[in-house]
This record gives sequence, C-alpha cells and structure tokens, in this order.
Amino acid sequence: MIIALNNKSNLEKIEFESYIKGLESISTEETIILCPTYLNIGAANSSLKIGSQNVSINENGAYTGEISATQLKSYNVQYAIVGHSERREYQRETNEEINLKIKQLLKNDITPILCIGESLKERENNQVKEVLKEELSIAIKDIKEEDKKKIIVAYEPIWSIGTGIIPTNEQIEEVFAEIKKIVPKSKILYGGSANEENIEQLKQIGAIDGYLLGGLSLKLEKLKIFLQKLH
Ligand code: 13P
Repeated sequence: MIIALNNKSNLEKIEFESYIKGLESISTEETIILCPTYLNIGAANSSLKIGSQNVSINENGAYTGEISATQLKSYNVQYAIVGHSERREYQRETNEEINLKIKQLLKNDITPILCIGESLKERENNQVKEVLKEELSIAIKDIKEEDKKKIIVAYEPIWSIGTGIIPTNEQIEEVFAEIKKIVPKSKILYGGSANEENIEQLKQIGAIDGYLLGGLSLKLEKLKIFLQKLH
C-alpha cells in the first residue's frame, strides 16, 4: 500500500533530523512517501521516497518564492501533492492551476498526488459527485491517457481533515467508484483523520490503495501501530 505522509507546515530543522531517523527505523513493506516542507526536502538525505507538498505552475525563471518541478527533480523528489484543500482554501488555488502543476510534474517524471474532496456544506447539499467530478476533470484536462494513469488521486473530504471524523465506508466506496469512472487506472488514497484506531474500519474497504496521513505522520509511535494493523 501507498502511505503518503503530509507533514504540512511542521517540524523545524532539529526536530526534522530526529524525526527522519525515527521514521527510517520503522520497518514496513508499505511504500512510504514522506512529504516534508520544501526546506526539509533539502535536509532529507534519506533512503525514503520523497514527495513535495506543492510545485510551481512555471518552469525555472523569475517567479520569486516558487519551486519548479525540475528543481524538485534535482533533489530526487519522486512525488508531489497538488491541490490540497488547504492550498485551495488559503492560497485560492484553482482547478486550472492544479492542471498546470500536474503537467509540469508529468513532464519531469514526478508522480502527482492529486487531492480532491468536498466540504461539509457540499455534502449536505448533495453536491459531492458534482464537486469531485469538476475537480478531477479539470485537473486532468488535456493529459494523455497513458499519463492519466500515473496520477495518484487522494480523496480527502474537507470535513474530515484534522477533525477526527471519517466518512462511513459506504460513503468512501461511493466516491471511489465515481473517481474510477473518470480515472479507472489511477491508484486512489483516502485521507482525513485516518489513524491507528479507525484503520480497523477503513481497512474493510477493498478499493483503498493507500492513505494520505496528516496528523498521524507526526506521531511515529501511533504511525507504527497503524502500519501494523493495515493488513
Ligand atoms: P489529517 O490526517 O491530520 O486529518 O490530515 C489529512 C491531510 O490533510 C493529509 O493531506
């Protein structure tokens, strides 16, 4: 299974040094993808697979504060999260920008981890399918079939992120089936308050190819338990 760890804006230099040692000492058969902050990517020097949390829509050039896909590649970054709901909300990131980011990544042989997910209001208004279909179809616009299957999709309901609340298995299965209609060959992850306790419930869902973990990525003892309970 794919276990992507989204550190978000956490772990300072010294903290990260001990964190990564701890993470590397966990023995597991799963594919662990560590997504630290940009600064910590530079400091990672690790045997782990590394992902970024974002990428520029542009190539190298006069784009102050941006990091390009070719730069990421030069630091051995193999994956990149795009379209996380926190960026969509706080940075006003649009589906069209996410599409450009995915194209930059694919051009540089970096696997995009595309996050999609509905808000609570959208779920209450019965708009889940509509919202996810729009996010997904614009994100993959004009991308060749053979490239589409390289994209990993992460379903992260916004109301579940950091809240301790997860959807029912039926709700997740329903969404995964919709995603499969659009990108049948893509791997699909679940993200949003997944932890060492609710994994017992989540693992009943056969369609889940892995997890995108936020809070749990920072708690290595609990992460270890999560990994032990996965199968
Ligand atoms: P939590 O696991 O903290 O809910 O975060 C999920 C997430 O946003 C991962 O990208």
